[in-house]
Amino acid sequence: MGQAASVKSALWISLLHGCLFLIADSGTEGPLDETTVDISSRKFRAEFLQEWHNTPDAPYFDPNTPRNITGLVGHPVKLLCRVKNLQNRTVSWVRHRDIHLLTVGRYTYTSDQRFEAQHRPRSEEWALRIRSPQRRDSGQYECQISTTPPIGHAVFLNIVEPETTISSGAELFIQAGSTINLTCTVRHTPEPPISITWTHRDQIINFDSARGGISLVTEKGLKSTSRLLVQKAKGADAGVYTCAPNNAPPALIRVHVLSGEHPAAMQQGCAKSSLDFIVSIMCTSLAVFLVFFTDHLHFGT
Ligand SMILES: *[C@@H]1O[C@H](CO)[C@@H](O)[C@H](O)[C@H]1NC(C)=O
Ligand SMILES: *[C@@H]1O[C@H](CO)[C@@H](O)[C@H](O)[C@H]1NC(C)=O
Ligand SMILES: *[C@@H]1O[C@H](CO)[C@@H](O)[C@H](O)[C@H]1NC(C)=O
Repeated sequence: MGQAASVKSALWISLLHGCLFLIADSGTEGPLDETTVDISSRKFRAEFLQEWHNTPDAPYFDPNTPRNITGLVGHPVKLLCRVKNLQNRTVSWVRHRDIHLLTVGRYTYTSDQRFEAQHRPRSEEWALRIRSPQRRDSGQYECQISTTPPIGHAVFLNIVEPETTISSGAELFIQAGSTINLTCTVRHTPEPPISITWTHRDQIINFDSARGGISLVTEKGLKSTSRLLVQKAKGADAGVYTCAPNNAPPALIRVHVLSGEHPAAMQQGCAKSSLDFIVSIMCTSLAVFLVFFTDHLHFGT
């Protein structure tokens, strides 16, 4: 008996764990594969110090060279390497992901036409330019000097896309009479958006409509925000709101206005929502089924 109970609880726990994992996992982007970065950059640092101590005229990297570059999808980006005391050595750029040699001196070695070595004669700068970077170009790159052993300077490239988010998430539940407060944030655009348009149920929100009590505060900059306030919310204010910047994808949110006596609106809202809910229902059903099944087995023996 006790054994059956512990088997049952173990099943429950593992299933619950599985479900939570499924839910947590859905909708998240796979992390960049950068597991090797730390070890190798430490190794290169060690080699750098070794060479530095051994030979007084050894080449070295300008310590002020940026190590973390953020670029936009489709917009040229340049990884810089500033080398002092290079003498007759060469400078190369290597991509860590696949240990691909991209440039050697002034020559581009890769067949990927988007990459280009850039260097002005007698300059200390050896740049790697990527003409039209994509998200997958994000990751670690390394500028290497052909000493024996070679020394390297790691640069992390982060390629981002214009992104719009509404801070309250995908759904907002509020009580009738309170204020709908939606903050839309626009990030990673080449320049601040010229316009950020709000709609409600596919209609552009009109600030001097008969509804009244609607206001908007917009701040533009590196990160732009637009805050929509709708006072004294009524049932008619429920529905989908979208925030659409001119130069980034739109974001949307479903607002539910609860009248107090009818919390049913909340259940309806959940049922309408995403795959996560369906997944959790399926997991729960499976768990229940399996627990009954083990019960059955126990009785059978
Ligand atoms: C690089 O900078 C970005 C934003 O500027 C930051 O999110 C990221 O954590 C930084 N990465 C490293 C490796 O420092
Ligand atoms: C660089 O110059 C040194 C002498 O200063 C010489 O020993 C070495 O072979 C040269 N290396 C290359 C790659 O030309
Ligand atoms: C709206 O929400 C933001 C935080 O999300 C808060 O800072 C702000 O004060 C709120 N405004 C009103 C009028 O409630």
